[in-house]
Amino acid sequence: MILRTALASVAMLGMMALTARAQPKVERVTATHTSAASGKEMFDTYCAVCHGAMGKGDGPAANAMKKAPANLTQLAAKNGGTFPADRVSQYITGAETLASHGSRDMPIWGTVFKALDRDSSVSILRTRNLTEYVKSLQAK
Ligand code: HEC
Repeated sequence: MILRTALASVAMLGMMALTARAQPKVERVTATHTSAASGKEMFDTYCAVCHGAMGKGDGPAANAMKKAPANLTQLAAKNGGTFPADRVSQYITGAETLASHGSRDMPIWGTVFKALDRDSSVSILRTRNLTEYVKSLQAK
């Protein structure tokens, strides 16, 4: 089984070569264009393959990841009931990772969004609408 996860070619970091037969292969492809106005369209296109359509961390590529994709429906619950919007936005763009010099399994979307649209205000809009959409997935 080959699963495609969107990643702009400029952001081809850490290609995964999975050999175990039972595991699906994750192939990194150039990100397709989506509407920056639709958090749902972006989430379904870019995030659901790992995080699952409802954000529970159970997407089809989840088993192929070294680190399990986060359950995005629990972010508010794990933060004392308040959705951590700034942290989520920074996580999506990669600003947080860069700041902490950490490495991670999740693609750095800031780079992908910059490659999609030359206008940086569109990247900001993408991040904002995706963050709003992730907020809407919170377990009640
Ligand atoms: C290739 C698989 C993959 C894709 C695609 C992906 N993620 Fe992730 N994501 C992960 C993994 C794995 C983690 C766990 C931490 C880590 O290693 O990066 C994570 C963690 C996160 C976190 C941090 C949660 C926390 O506990 O603070 C957020 C927020 C997030 N992802 C949102 C998104 C959004 C929004 C998208 C789509 C733009 C997306 N992810 C696409 C794999 C993915």
